[in-house]
Amino acid sequence: MKETILCKFAEVFGDTEGTEVYFAPGRVNMIGEHTDYNGGHVFPCALTIGTYGVARKRQDRKLRFYSMNFERIGVIESTLDNLCPDPWADWTNYPKGVMWAFEEKGVPIPNGLDILLCGNIPNGSGLSSSASVEVLTGFILRDMFGFDVSNQDLALIGQYSENHFNGVNCGIMDQFAIAMGKKEHAIFLDTATLSYEYAPIRLEDAKIVIACSNKKRGLGDSKYNERRGECEQALSELQKVCAVGSLGELTEEEFEKYQGSIGSEVHRRRARHAVYENRRTVQAVQALKNNDVAAFGQLMNASHVSLRDDYEVTGIELDTLVEEAWKVEGVIGSRMTGAGFGGCTVSIVKNGSIDDFIARVGAAYQSRIGYAADFYVVEIGDGPCKLT
Ligand code: GLA
Repeated sequence: MKETILCKFAEVFGDTEGTEVYFAPGRVNMIGEHTDYNGGHVFPCALTIGTYGVARKRQDRKLRFYSMNFERIGVIESTLDNLCPDPWADWTNYPKGVMWAFEEKGVPIPNGLDILLCGNIPNGSGLSSSASVEVLTGFILRDMFGFDVSNQDLALIGQYSENHFNGVNCGIMDQFAIAMGKKEHAIFLDTATLSYEYAPIRLEDAKIVIACSNKKRGLGDSKYNERRGECEQALSELQKVCAVGSLGELTEEEFEKYQGSIGSEVHRRRARHAVYENRRTVQAVQALKNNDVAAFGQLMNASHVSLRDDYEVTGIELDTLVEEAWKVEGVIGSRMTGAGFGGCTVSIVKNGSIDDFIARVGAAYQSRIGYAADFYVVEIGDGPCKLT
């Protein structure tokens, strides 16, 4: 990979003088969906697939970007002066947003850069290709300019840029999972405090299989911000009857006691998902600690049902993938992952059943939806790094 992208860099930008090569992973969330902006827990892990980047400093303030994933777009140029989101700037709004966020936080970027990216995360799949680009950009800037920021800061800067530059009101999960990733571990993160714990994923005779629906979605045009607003609305009504700072602070019992204060039936279901999903996430991590992968899988399944019925972020594509997966023997658990409305599912599948899983779920999907899904058996990897 390193050779290929350096070669391409030379072709696009003339030579490879002064370049460095970097990598940032994608992520998959095992459980704890739509809980991060509700002050709840999440349990994501970084993947070994992600975004590779070649970068070098320039003497002027120019920015030149090229992505091997969008070759037809060619080189997109910009400058460090007056960084602002532009529709024509396409994917470069992500790295530009991170540069802008550094400047907003009082860390000015001294020089322009030439940056070439090449990702092997399926685009728009819900495996956080955009957060991967954000964390990668922050990592490159830190390394090239010697900024004194931690990996956790890189996550926060990435999220800040996504919220305030790219207009998606996302939580911290994706950028955190990517910046703080650890091989063979998932991250049990309390999004209210950012305290976290690494939990080893020991599946022994099973693997994590991702099914990509190939239904494209962008967070911006999905109902993501709308769901977030519905939860905020529910919270503000709950706050009239009980002292609570976020939905993530409520136990199921408290929710059941006070839920009548939420006027809209729809908002009540949204809040119910946030509260119960948070509890499921805590229980799922405990199950894993007890080596009870079967219980973990049951909680994954329950998570999907709640995302389908109460939160309504699944859709026929993700429901087909999950409901077909549940029928296959050797599937320990299966659910949608990420924001929803398209994107991927994550399943834990016994090694001996993986081929059968792919064949059966793939055929059912093709026949019901009319186009194919893609399947990936994935490994849990580390956070961002420089490739030497
Ligand atoms: C997207 C967001 C995350 C999180 C998930 C849903 O991936 O970027 O912050 O809210 O959706 O769990």
